[in-house]
Formats: sequence, structure tokens, C-alpha cells
Amino acid sequence: MIISNIAILIAMREEANPILNQLKMDMIADGFDNHLPFELYKGIIEEREVHLVIGGKDKVYNVDNIATQPATLSAHVTIEKIQPDLIINAGTAGGFKKRGANIGTVYISSDQLKYHDRRIPIPGYREYGIGAYPSLKTDRMAQELNLVPGIISTGNSLDLTDNDLEIIQSNNADVKDMEAAAIAWVAMLHGKPFLALKAITDLIDTDSPTQEEFLENLSIASKNLGQAIIEVSKYCLNKPLSEL
Ligand code: ADE
Repeated sequence: MIISNIAILIAMREEANPILNQLKMDMIADGFDNHLPFELYKGIIEEREVHLVIGGKDKVYNVDNIATQPATLSAHVTIEKIQPDLIINAGTAGGFKKRGANIGTVYISSDQLKYHDRRIPIPGYREYGIGAYPSLKTDRMAQELNLVPGIISTGNSLDLTDNDLEIIQSNNADVKDMEAAAIAWVAMLHGKPFLALKAITDLIDTDSPTQEEFLENLSIASKNLGQAIIEVSKYCLNKPLSEL
């Protein structure tokens, strides 16, 4: 079976703007059940229809729906509606200077996705909390497309506690994000191949406040992210999974 139907999941509108504009994607009205805030778009890459879903706005707080709660739900309804052959979670993330990250570097998931903020010190639940959800093997495409392979660790906070850092390190992670493991879990439940692309907005192991760096670099990171999504989609479309 060749890959002909990709679904891209992005949390924030600003992260998605470059690709929405570049591909001139159209919004599909009534994409999902009208209780849900998610927005569905479609565009064309390599003559194939590609769908993109963003989290939409939280009605109470009037901000974008980010982190694992909307991510799991949007992944599930997207898979049910689109029946994609490949799911890509794209977004921005924090990186580590000491592990070679720079602002704007785009990482591609190179191994299982894990959590760093689900600490449950009860036998069995400790491992369940951290989890380990599959990523597609991406070493060939990373090399061909000049993307940096990296391990991604997911949590629900933009800031970092000492506990989080300890688990991020034991996850051997290069990248700290807020959605990838959640979406990888849903992809696994549905038996769908998954990969994540994360563009770095902030360096966690430097002195600058994360939220300031994030806002300052969101636009450049999203631009790089848009480019990477298009390149990865072009690489994957019309190939069998076994040839990626
Ligand atoms: N997204 C962008 N920067 C992040 C960070 N430092 N942690 C989690 N998610 C992020």
C-alpha cells in the first residue's frame, strides 16, 4: 500500500499559517462535529489531497487549544474522518543548546514518544505514565531532507520543573513539546504510522525566559516548520511505507 493520504495535526494557528498560506489550503466547513473546536483544511501536495487540522480556539479563554487534551481528541476524530495512511504532528518545541539545538532547528522524531510529566510512583503505573509510543523509522528521510533526528518528550507545561527535567533526561530527549506523545498514542490505538516534526523556538538550558523566547521566535520556527512539512510530505507521498 502506498502513502496517498496524509493528515497533519498542528495545535496553534500561528504554527500552521506558513503552510496554510504556501499551499493555499481551503477550510472545510463542518469538518467535525460542531461541538468540537478543531478546524479542518485541505490542500494538494504531489497531486495528492493532504489534510491539516488545527486545534481552534478555546471559547472561554479565547486562546488556541494546545497540549495533550485537545491533541488526543483531535487525533481521534481526524483519524476517524480522514482515514489517513500517515499522521504527522507538527509544531514548535523547546530544545537543548548542549544537545546541539538552535532556534529554528527542525527535529524529526527518531524513536518512541514519551511523557515527562505523568509521575505515578506506583508499580506498573510509573512506566505507564512515561509511556512509549511508536514513531516511524525516519533515519533515511532525516538524512535526505537535512532534518535533525531527535527524541521528543511531551508534557502539559511550557515551563520546566526539576522533576520534569530529570525525566526528560532519563527519556534521553532532545526536544520538549506539548502534544507529540498524546497523538502518537492515538495513532498507535488506530494502528496508523506516525511521525513528529518540531521546530525549536526556545533553548531550555539557557538563561532567557522560555515564554519570551517562544513568542520572539514563533514566526521563524513556524516558517521552517512549514517548509519541513512540505518536504516530508513530498518524500512520503506515493511511496510504500517500507521504502521510507
Ligand atoms: N513549545 C515551544 N517551546 C516549548 C517548551 N519549552 N516546552 C514545551 N513546549 C514548547
